[in-house]
Amino acid sequence: MTATLDNPIQALSEYVSYPSVSADSSFSDGISGAREFATQRLQDLGFSVETIETPIHPVLLGKRGDPSWPRLVIYGHYDVQPPDPLDLWSSEPFVAIEREGRLYGRGAADNKGPQIVHMCALHRALKKNPNLPLHIIYLIEGEEEIGSPSFRPFLEARKEQLAGDMLLVSDTGSPGPDQLVVTTGLRGLTAMEVKFKGPRQDLHSGVHGGALRNPLQALAQVCASLHDSSGKVAVDGFYDDVIEPQDWEREELSKLPIKEEDYQEFLGVKTLSPPPGYNALEAIRFCPTLEFNGLGGGYQGEGSKTVIPSQAFAKITCRLVPNQRSADIARKVKRSIEAVCPESIQVEVEVKGGGDPYVIIPPGKPGSTGHETKLMQRAFPILEECVKNQFGTKPIYLREGGSIPIIRDLQEVAGLEALMLGLFTNEDNLHAPDESFNLKIMNQAIDSFETFFLNLGKSYRQ
Ligand code: BES
Ligand code: MN
Repeated sequence: MTATLDNPIQALSEYVSYPSVSADSSFSDGISGAREFATQRLQDLGFSVETIETPIHPVLLGKRGDPSWPRLVIYGHYDVQPPDPLDLWSSEPFVAIEREGRLYGRGAADNKGPQIVHMCALHRALKKNPNLPLHIIYLIEGEEEIGSPSFRPFLEARKEQLAGDMLLVSDTGSPGPDQLVVTTGLRGLTAMEVKFKGPRQDLHSGVHGGALRNPLQALAQVCASLHDSSGKVAVDGFYDDVIEPQDWEREELSKLPIKEEDYQEFLGVKTLSPPPGYNALEAIRFCPTLEFNGLGGGYQGEGSKTVIPSQAFAKITCRLVPNQRSADIARKVKRSIEAVCPESIQVEVEVKGGGDPYVIIPPGKPGSTGHETKLMQRAFPILEECVKNQFGTKPIYLREGGSIPIIRDLQEVAGLEALMLGLFTNEDNLHAPDESFNLKIMNQAIDSFETFFLNLGKSYRQ
């Protein structure tokens, strides 16, 4: 295939055709295909590109322009989530198909479409001004969907090469084409796997039932103890470091053109249950959570089986908000689980990694320091203007419920703060069957970013 950045839909279709599932090693051809595709597009744009090996999937590091110019780092990820469950897709997940103004395919929205937006916009900007005075450092990783295990070591090793004045990311959401969001925060994450170990093998529940504790019962007891009846997390000290959102953040949220009733209908639930003191739309952004992502143990087949299982497990993740720390929360949850679990069951809590929450106060908003880089101070208003011109409304400034842990790492290690424009929507079905990218958003975003890049370069020359 020979997709070029002259044709965004074609370019995105080819990018989607490489099944770059990072979680499953049987997709290694798709991973390398997507990586080579991204490398070639960066080379088309005049970047020199280095492929940096990691223990799992390599990172791409591209560069253009003079290092003395303002330095803009652009981040994206070429990996995607597994396409399962396959039978719920209306078309092949890795064959991009256009239907009713959307391009369907795994990764179309998360994160290949938004990357094509940046690249096509840059392509047009560089055609108009080949000497655009921006030193651009492109960073595209292949492990985002598995928690970026190789990223922190990569960053520590290469931080000098990532020195920049600002980070640009489009890997977050917006309500829709009539209202975009500049993302001002991301929740952190703590992932844990808990094992409950009972008898050395599965047992007949009649022959042995009554003599010993059932690991599934211990699991149920432990899991039920982790929330109180209002829905709040009942782990000692869980909320200690949570800071309240600022007034301007609540005000921005009230501009969100989504009603709670519509959101409830979208989710297909009878009632929303945010924690006390917050509505559901606030809770996603401002409150931490503890969620069960998977529970297992015992007989899962058809019919019944009278068995006491030998083991049970729970997969748990917490979403964190400023100033909670991932390692601290992992410790607290572990302690709480160990305290509640009956002694006769051996419980093992394994921490599977995570990341701390990230928050940025946009230049000029209450609480901002005024010490942002010049590029930051120019970039926010320029992007706001470009979005207003293309989409008809100014973006609103909101924290987001999802996590991209490496954004915090880039802040801590390379001193980079992020300007994030959300380009996908709830209707895009991220991580789910029938993922798609809204082509109206794609086209208007390309136009917005074209002017953004040109003006950001122009403002430097003055
Ligand atoms: N692009 C998402 C993160 C995201 C989703 C941000 C929705 C804002 C709104 C990213 O690819 C993702 O899914 N991240 C994972 C991180 C995890 C695997 C460490 C997440 O949030 O679950
Ligand atoms: Mn993503």
